[in-house]
Amino acid sequence: MPNPDRIGVLFICLGNICRSPLAEGVFRGLVREAGLEHAFEIDSAGTSDYHEGELADPRTIAVARRRGIELTSRSRPITVEDIERFDYLVVMDSSNLRDVRRLAASVRPDARIQRLREYDPEAFGDLDVPDPYYGGEKGFVLVQEIVERSCVRLLEHLRAEHGL
Ligand code: 4NP
Repeated sequence: MPNPDRIGVLFICLGNICRSPLAEGVFRGLVREAGLEHAFEIDSAGTSDYHEGELADPRTIAVARRRGIELTSRSRPITVEDIERFDYLVVMDSSNLRDVRRLAASVRPDARIQRLREYDPEAFGDLDVPDPYYGGEKGFVLVQEIVERSCVRLLEHLRAEHGL
């Protein structure tokens, strides 16, 4: 459960085994490098429970490991409590955006729900982090690159917004 004194950031995708655990791990690493662990509460969740309890996909774990990041989170579905507690709900694609908006509508209509690629300087108008699940290795490498670029900017943005 997020500490109210911290900035809560929840990364969200469909299965919570590919994109959002990677974003969680990358963002956590950047926050640690910046010495700001005390200021953030970071987690990830899925809009589905298809993979509940599972570790991240082995292909995701592999791309993260190459960047020195060990992913240990287990998949869990997003809850209404997450919507109420986390300050920033960061989704991976427009389908997640629709699902999370629907979940938030009755409990927190003013929830801050954004797509991660809104922070990608190389998005060129495509604001979805592509779902790599049914594709090959290359898709996971692409997701890793998108997530890295976007998380760097997301952290810069949050630091500026919160004076950190
Ligand atoms: P993720 O990828 O949403 O990035 O975790 C997926 C994982 C599993 C499925 C789809 C996407 N699935 O259909 O099981």
